[in-house]
Amino acid sequence: MAGSYPRPLPRASRTATISAMQSASFTREELLSNHAFARPHEAAGRRLHGGLDAQGRYLPPRTQVREPAVRAWEQRLVERGGELLRADLSLLPAPLFPNFEQQKCLLAHGLGQTLWNTLTITGVIEARGKILAEFPAPEFADVVEDDLSETATGHLRRGLLEAHGFDEGGAPDSDLGAHDAMWFAARDLALGIDSYPMPEIPESIGRPDAGRLCPSLPIGHEMMLSLLANVLLIEIRAEKVFSFVQALLRQHQLFRARTSDLELAHEMIARIRTDEAIHVDYLRLVLSELRTFTFRGLDGSRLPGTAVLDPLWNAVVQWHALENPRLARAQMEPVLRARILTHPEGAAILEEIESLADA
Ligand SMILES: [Fe+2]
Ligand SMILES: [Fe+2]
Repeated sequence: MAGSYPRPLPRASRTATISAMQSASFTREELLSNHAFARPHEAAGRRLHGGLDAQGRYLPPRTQVREPAVRAWEQRLVERGGELLRADLSLLPAPLFPNFEQQKCLLAHGLGQTLWNTLTITGVIEARGKILAEFPAPEFADVVEDDLSETATGHLRRGLLEAHGFDEGGAPDSDLGAHDAMWFAARDLALGIDSYPMPEIPESIGRPDAGRLCPSLPIGHEMMLSLLANVLLIEIRAEKVFSFVQALLRQHQLFRARTSDLELAHEMIARIRTDEAIHVDYLRLVLSELRTFTFRGLDGSRLPGTAVLDPLWNAVVQWHALENPRLARAQMEPVLRARILTHPEGAAILEEIESLADA
């Protein structure tokens, strides 16, 4: 069935229930509930999360209520006069390294390890997202004056963080593969199983601790805000990797894999992308809501949410937009050079790679 993978259900039809919602308060069980799948999600020999509807379209896991809930909370935010934070790819203009043409050049010369490592590292980092389900998240009701009962913020500990963690690394009571398994499936389809050794996985890709950014809050709340902001930026950066890898997988001549396997790898990433949309949406919404609340500082003072959130958000954006890409590139360049030079025509390939570099 090469080339005929069904497209995900359009968002509009999945959110038709919003207008019917009277209350924007939900239980943990509701926020973790799945659609009534017509068929399980099985692909590339793996049993995976999510499922297919009667038309064979992919439906993400745990979104039956979670998705319309996010739309309802967004509506509440706007009704209160709040606005959604700008949190999209325009915040992260640095190109990926190696860039698209360089990656094509590497693959054309049979140098697939760099892409292999990218896919493996992405899968392992996705699985680490499971920490969100286990993280001892503090209650924001302890530090803000506002009523959180009909907000995303008020549901973080009541299903939202758990649903996100399970999407990334799998639910504890389930043997269905999550995003790590989906990335590894895409990698193996495109580049072959066990083609290269396991790469070194970076310790962390979040902004390193550089002192307090919200000293007026308890440390646990500041750590939570920092986690939410970092994960949001990592999710946005992932979107760049998704479209990059999908575009590469469309260049069938660069791979030795069968066309049908490349198309399934492409589809696998499309399904991860479909799942990720709600992560970006709810994280952006929580940070946007928090900017509209009034915080109670440790010294009893009242602080507008913008005063608490904006310095932290700006620091995290700065790290992901500038510092992290610079560091990642500096670490990657010598490794890539050494790898290219192991090829019999390494010197010529290196010259070609350098000629394709971004300014
Ligand atoms: Fe993910
Ligand atoms: Fe995600």
